[in-house]
Amino acid sequence: MALRTLLTRKILADSPLGTLRFRGLQTFSLPDLPYDYGALEPAISGDIMQLHHQKHHQTYITNYNKALEQLDDAVAKGDAPAVVKLQSAIKFNGGGHVNHSIFWKNLAPVREGGGEPPKSSLGWAIDNHFGSLEVLIQKMNAEGAALQGSGWIWLGLDTELKRLVVETTANQDPLVTKGPNLVPLLGIDVWEHAYYLQYKNVRPDYLKNIWKVMNWKYAGEVFDKECP
Ligand SMILES: [Fe+2]
Repeated sequence: MALRTLLTRKILADSPLGTLRFRGLQTFSLPDLPYDYGALEPAISGDIMQLHHQKHHQTYITNYNKALEQLDDAVAKGDAPAVVKLQSAIKFNGGGHVNHSIFWKNLAPVREGGGEPPKSSLGWAIDNHFGSLEVLIQKMNAEGAALQGSGWIWLGLDTELKRLVVETTANQDPLVTKGPNLVPLLGIDVWEHAYYLQYKNVRPDYLKNIWKVMNWKYAGEVFDKECP
């Protein structure tokens, strides 16, 4: 993940014999979008992209960093209940950061190849596993439309079985929560914040149009790397 990281160093007050001990705490910052906010129109409006990136993704990062700093302190103090208490915030906000960082790369403007069907090995794998790209899209759209509440719909690769999978995850759970060998190729955000400004409550229309800006080139690169 191409993330800019900030390195903060903390002096531990409880270091023995007055020696200074440093620990590195890696925090995270908002990754740049690889295109302009309006570049995915008309499939996804510039207003949605800006709000989604600058506000929603940034909030996950802010809260993730806060939870990591609290975890760092809790571990240093040996405060086991506090460590356990922080796990849900880390999963939710860390998952939000991981998922959105993938999501931006899953999309591309039409003039840069967005919507062009997958080629080579991933294209063959989709045909072999699902019958055709159209069948896969119908399956993902149906599962995305049926997902209750907020979550994600994924096309993933099981790196152990070397097979493609379609999975949904609730809230901000990353795909890896469905299996340790699952690597995401494409993830579609079906939280209302991803489409409501433009599509109101009609999630199926959002799902239908997002394929027009899908970056299959990125998915193919991940597939080739994981399944050479
Ligand atoms: Fe989102």
